Amino acid sequence: MAPINIKFKSTGAYLPERVLTNQDLEKIVDTSDEWITTRTGIKTRRIAADEEATSDMAYEAAKIAIKRADMSPEEVELIIVGTISPDMFFPSTGCFVQDRLGAKNAVAMDINAACSGYIYSLVIASKFLVSGTYKNALIIGSEKLTSIVNWEDRATCVLFADGAGAGILVPSNGGSKILAFDLGSDGSYGKDLCVPAGGSRNPATKETVDKKMHSIVMNGNAIFKIAVNKMRETFNKSMAMAGVTADDITLLIPHQANLRIIESLRNFLKLPKEKVYVNIDRYGNTSAASIAIALNEVHEQGIIKRGDIIGLAAFGGGLTWASAILEF
Ligand code: ACO
Repeated sequence: MAPINIKFKSTGAYLPERVLTNQDLEKIVDTSDEWITTRTGIKTRRIAADEEATSDMAYEAAKIAIKRADMSPEEVELIIVGTISPDMFFPSTGCFVQDRLGAKNAVAMDINAACSGYIYSLVIASKFLVSGTYKNALIIGSEKLTSIVNWEDRATCVLFADGAGAGILVPSNGGSKILAFDLGSDGSYGKDLCVPAGGSRNPATKETVDKKMHSIVMNGNAIFKIAVNKMRETFNKSMAMAGVTADDITLLIPHQANLRIIESLRNFLKLPKEKVYVNIDRYGNTSAASIAIALNEVHEQGIIKRGDIIGLAAFGGGLTWASAILEF
């Protein structure tokens, strides 16, 4: 695979203020801090305010990324928002963000690839940049998953959370690049992780509302097994295409779905703990926002620098999976 000469000019993130702890959840469903910590690695997560929608969080993260890139909103040419919890069916969350930013000259769209959404957005945007179609792209992962969680289902409500991350991508002179990527989908497992109603298959009725069919339904065990296998497979593919081995990776940023899934990938790659970024303990699973938030954190804190080899790997509803190796 030929490298794609693009770079992150900047990143940004937004985490809502409200913190929901495992102890708070003990008061809502029959669960315990001990169960959540040992089975998932999550201790706290952020919850958006009632009036705060996905596009509001996306806007906050984007504003920071645009400012850090020394750009004005009018200069942004492409906006891609990865989300499975859009403000509305339509218009796209991208269009809402474009309007709030005043990014009048940008084309805006959403990508629905669940937790793989940020890597999908990165790859799609990069293709537009290297083809010369656009000079820059604002990619965003933003989710208000707590708006589509069934708060009576202890198997899912302890996992999902809210937040947003963003990045400005521009073509590079070859110093920074995507060395390789791998994207994949398998719709045959779609029903193992979905929101069953509200679309054209099961439009909203009193019954769909009563049966909580507008919330996330997940076959956790099935998803867990496929996640472990697919994360390994996709990351291996990307490494092979990039011509690197695990030893070359400066930092692996996996999607933060479950600490046990992250640890399984780490053990498989024989990476030491400090080479795998983990913030699931603080933020839970923010789907498309998770890698975007993590990438911003490591960039902001100087944990990564230009020239580092960064691995990204994700897995989510669809099913979808994605990985990329960046020379940052
Ligand atoms: N608190 C206490 N007990 C619980 C809870 C809870 N919050 N949730 C489930 N349990 C119970 C179950 O009822 C079950 O009890 P039983 O044995 O009496 O029936 C027991 O714990 C074990 O349940 P399992 O589902 O087998 O638990 P498991 O260890 O598999 O962990 C989990 C469940 C955390 C959901 C795990 O399967 C998982 O992480 N799956 C993957 C989820 C994921 O990664 N999704 C990614 C994509 S996200 C996206 O795309 C939006």
